[in-house]
Amino acid sequence: MKRVKIGIAGLGRLGRTHAQNLAFKIPQAELTAACSIVDAELDYAKNELGITELYKDFSEMVNKADIDAVVIVTPSTEHPWQIEAALKAGKQVFCEKPLAVTIEECKATEKIVEQYPDQIVMLGFMRRFDPSYAYAKEKIKAGAIGQPYLVKATGIDPEADCQSLIDSGFIPKSGGIFIDMAVHDIDLMRWFLEADAKEVYALGCSFKHPEFKRDGDCETGCAMFEFENGAMGQIHVGRTAPHGYHIETEIVGTEGSIRISPVPAKNLAILYDTNGVVQECVRNFPERFSESYVLELEEFINCVIHKTKPSVTVYDGTKATQMAFAAKAAFENHVVTPVEH
Ligand SMILES: NC(=O)c1ccc[n+]([C@@H]2O[C@H](COP(=O)([O-])OP(=O)(O)OC[C@H]3O[C@@H](n4cnc5c(N)ncnc54)[C@H](O)[C@@H]3O)[C@@H](O)[C@H]2O)c1
Repeated sequence: MKRVKIGIAGLGRLGRTHAQNLAFKIPQAELTAACSIVDAELDYAKNELGITELYKDFSEMVNKADIDAVVIVTPSTEHPWQIEAALKAGKQVFCEKPLAVTIEECKATEKIVEQYPDQIVMLGFMRRFDPSYAYAKEKIKAGAIGQPYLVKATGIDPEADCQSLIDSGFIPKSGGIFIDMAVHDIDLMRWFLEADAKEVYALGCSFKHPEFKRDGDCETGCAMFEFENGAMGQIHVGRTAPHGYHIETEIVGTEGSIRISPVPAKNLAILYDTNGVVQECVRNFPERFSESYVLELEEFINCVIHKTKPSVTVYDGTKATQMAFAAKAAFENHVVTPVEH
């Protein structure tokens, strides 16, 4: 079978994970080109991944490189114009979330994507590909919990990474915790409830690191969404989990409920020692979702090969962004806020 030739853009924190997966874990993919504005990242692509087609300019890569598709892992502000340039050059597109950093740009990008109906644009909401989340979705579809009416989602980054986040000056540039962190949980809520949100209220606090409050953000945020079908979605996002990377989701239905990783365990091993009975916590998102990153790109490659549409679209990107902005506004203004559609 013909392999899909890929060019990757951005080889930073997540880009390297995607590049490694494309180069070594997905047999139907062939990573043949790479683009970055940083020389060291191109050196990495050449030396560690054996890529010879290297570009500093994204437009040049999509127009000159011998590739069928691009995987965009650049900063979120770059996504809209790079999606457009890739489509214009006839390439299939996988783009990391978020689709764009404003609702206006999301909508404009939807319009551009609609001009290329025969090309694929898939967005990287990888949690849908996590085997446990995918299993929960299957169970819900099979009626295992009846009608789902509440999703409770917790997403807390490790305290161990928090100070470096503050020191790097990231907080004022992050867009705020609801934009930066809550979009994955928001996307899962829409996916599990198969509904869109109507309105939201949100609160935040910063007891451990006042720097978040100083920068107009919060270290912990809670939001409560009401969906158009009457269902509810509750989000708790934070930066200061003492025990590791805490991702937990509960979906409650009329006939039962499903909980995904109430103990966000590293693995099934349990240590019995002088500290008691200890189960280690998963450390960070690359570790927790390593399988999901491979599976989402496998879906993308399969869509390219079989000319099928991906399960995660730009519209999902826009909806999640709209909900996140509404939560941010609710937090900042202390009012119940409608979700713009
Ligand atoms: N799905 C997830 O779980 C997840 C996790 C982390 C990041 N992300 C998303 O992935 C994207 C990248 O995040 P990151 O943390 O890897 O960022 P990063 O800053 O570590 O890496 C981005 C890289 O892109 C390169 N770059 C910048 N502008 C470019 C351009 N015009 N052309 C080509 N390369 C360019 C830079 O050299 C940089 O190293 C963001 O959109 C982020 O939201 C998603």
